[in-house]
Formats: sequence, structure tokens, C-alpha cells
Amino acid sequence: MIKFVVLTLFNDMFTSFLNTSIIKRSIEAGKLSVELIDIRDFSGFKNKKVDDTPYGGGNGMVISAEPVAKAIDFALTLIKDLECEIIYMSPRGNLLNYNMCKEFSDGCSNKAYILICGHYEGIDERVLEEYNIKEVSIGDYVLTGGEIAAMVFIDSVTRLVPGIITEGSLIDESHTNKLLEYPQYTKPSVFRGRKVPEVLLSGHDKNITEYRHKKSLELTLKNRPDLLK
Ligand code: ADE
Repeated sequence: MIKFVVLTLFNDMFTSFLNTSIIKRSIEAGKLSVELIDIRDFSGFKNKKVDDTPYGGGNGMVISAEPVAKAIDFALTLIKDLECEIIYMSPRGNLLNYNMCKEFSDGCSNKAYILICGHYEGIDERVLEEYNIKEVSIGDYVLTGGEIAAMVFIDSVTRLVPGIITEGSLIDESHTNKLLEYPQYTKPSVFRGRKVPEVLLSGHDKNITEYRHKKSLELTLKNRPDLLK
């Protein structure tokens, strides 16, 4: 079982993610747990306000330290004896890649992650220091909030947990061996005049493996030459 506790201002964004496909089935099978905590529940104000203007001036609003800290303290009570890492989804963070996903998924049977989703201009820096929070980015662009990034994190880490998807599916997929995945085809063998490459119909395993490796190399060279360096 891998466990995530998500601190967010927008719980609803997770509804279809948690109720679809592999993520839904993993939750039902008891292999994955995702709990959502609304940071506003820890506001302390009647109107559930959790943000304020930035010290030093500037645009937008900053999420205050206190409600986030209280939400973290509550999340920690849900995690009990599990080893826990607290992660703030942020464009400032370490860029998530396949190796990091693998590390986050390793030893997941006794691990939990608290994922904090920011909004507006981010959260008060002192809460990050107070809890020694790691920052993770999903790409060099800025999202309107951390929720989509948290879903990317949960999805990409969970699928590497043993028993979540067929082990074989992971072997040749993009990024496992620094190469992008070769092209895939299924029936019918002719689509609008385009034939499936002959070698894939040959049943000759060695030739198929060689062909796929060549295609992986070609694709990587074309789309992501940086991976070959
Ligand atoms: N929040 C806003 N932009 C983000 C990004 N690129 N990665 C993670 N969290 C974010």
C-alpha cells in the first residue's frame, strides 16, 4: 500500500482522477490510499480565509503558514507509523523524472507522502522551513495551482509500485532505459492503406526486438536527443 495525503484548496479537482481506471482499481484493491484535506478547514476564520497579501509588496496573495501547518499536523496523525515525506508541488522544485518516480515508489509498503498544493503566489516560506519540506516541479512552466502536479506525482509514482500494473508493461516503456518507447500497432493490419511493419507480423522474436530497438533509437534521436548524451 502506498499512501498519499493531499493538502489542497480544491478537493473537487481530484474527483474524476480518483474515480478512473488504474487509480480507482488500485484504491479499491487496497494497494493505494489517497486522502484529501481541505486547507480551508484549518483557517480559523469564519469565512475560511487562508491567504493574505505578501510582505514587501507585490502581486497576488500568499497562503498563510498557520492553516498549512495545522493541516500538516492533522495529516501526520493519519500517517501513524509510516515513513513520511512532505512535498510541496511548486515550479521552483526539483524537476520530476523517471528515476525520481522510481525512488519515490521504492519501499512504498511503509511510506507515505503528504503533498501540498499551492495556489496564488505560493505559501509562506516559513512553513517549508519548519517541516523541512521538499519541493517538486513537474515541468518548466507555471500551473494555476499544484493540484494537477499532485495528480501527476501520484499517478507516475503509483504505477511503478509492484502489483499496480502488469510488470511487463514497464519493461520497454519510455524512459525506463533512457530511450523512448518504439511505436505500437494493433488490429487491423491495414488502416487507411497504412500497413503494420512486416517484421511485426513475422513472429521472429529476434528481428522484432532489433526492429523495436532501432525505432526507439530513431525516435529518441528525433524527439529527445538530450537523453542519449
Ligand atoms: N505549481 C505550479 N506550477 C507547478 C509546476 N510546474 N510543478 C509543480 N507544481 C506547480
